[in-house]
Amino acid sequence: MFEGIEMAPPDAILGLTESFKKDPRPEKVNLGVGIYKDAQNNTPVFQSVKKAEERLIAEEKTKSYLPIPGDPAYGLAVREMVFGAEHEILGSKRAVTVHTPGGTAALRVGGDFIRRNLSCRRIWVSTPTWENHGAVFNAAGLDVGTYPYYNAADKVLAFDAMAGALERVPGGDVVLFHACCHNPTGIDPTVDQWRQLAVISQRAGFLPFFDFAYQGLGDGLKEDARGLQEFCRSGCEILVASSFSKNFGLYNERVGALTLVAGTADAAERAFSQLKICVRTNYSNPPNHGGAIVTTILRDAALRALWESEVREMCARINGMRTLFVDTLRRLGIKQDFSFIARQKGMFSYSGLTAEQVDALREQKALYIVRSGRINVAALTPDNIEPVCRAIASVL
Ligand code: LMR
Repeated sequence: MFEGIEMAPPDAILGLTESFKKDPRPEKVNLGVGIYKDAQNNTPVFQSVKKAEERLIAEEKTKSYLPIPGDPAYGLAVREMVFGAEHEILGSKRAVTVHTPGGTAALRVGGDFIRRNLSCRRIWVSTPTWENHGAVFNAAGLDVGTYPYYNAADKVLAFDAMAGALERVPGGDVVLFHACCHNPTGIDPTVDQWRQLAVISQRAGFLPFFDFAYQGLGDGLKEDARGLQEFCRSGCEILVASSFSKNFGLYNERVGALTLVAGTADAAERAFSQLKICVRTNYSNPPNHGGAIVTTILRDAALRALWESEVREMCARINGMRTLFVDTLRRLGIKQDFSFIARQKGMFSYSGLTAEQVDALREQKALYIVRSGRINVAALTPDNIEPVCRAIASVL
């Protein structure tokens, strides 16, 4: 039965890491997958995470199953992080959260929920978007449409085209937004533009679904939620997929959450019962460890303060690398204007490099970049910046 199976293509992002690992060249640099590196080229465990883990190991009494939607304390901590503890959405109990294995499972559970419970069959995603979005929603049985997002000529948000396209989205469809640090472009709407998008969503009648994978890596933990919160008017309905891979450095623990905001507490309770079926038929109930770390940190004032300082430190290093990247290219005599890199937010920079240039960099310079031209700025270090910039200069 397996003889006729065809070889699948490698994953656009994680497949690159597989090739990188096999590459014997000592000078190789991987700027593909979105993983943070410190100045010494390590991806360290956060101190706050280590301390939370020590506490969890000392206090752990059982490895029994978690409930289908996970620990309620985790759900509450996630909602407080997304909306703020005082938000009406929390007080009115119209938001519910399920703990998912990573942000990807949050997107998939959201897709399954939409397919099973709404008449909608289509989700709209930005062009470009994260390489895996379309595949995840297709796998959930949804059709994927696209709306314009990026003006490649000027390297800015194509806001008018985006807004115009979203005005025409049929009522009842779903629209995916990146809540902050848009992956791959690193370009977000301004708060005023988010406000306009919220008005459009209400007028057009589509359901906003936020992928919130980088909270804290843009302008700050609270600030990064401002766009999403423009949609949080009374009675609003939204979905939010959170990921704690990057902002807690918990990549391999696979820790995320799907939060559903309904118009009323009663509707939220019914939706929650359906979300539980989506979880039960996917992975039954979530793995405990990563979620327990996040809950422990967010509920303890000292650990939380330590974690927040670690997130700020990570951002400062990334932003420092953005500036150094632009300065180094300029110092190497590159006439092309790369100053836009310093204005982009989060881990990624949409460099404008073509697929051919990316291929040449991999083959000739052992420099690994996603074929869309997306560069993981968070993997640049004081040691590799010069060779990386020289390599890029050689293909321009
Ligand atoms: C990325 O975009 O590089 C990350 O979100 C990792 C992944 O799973 O693709």
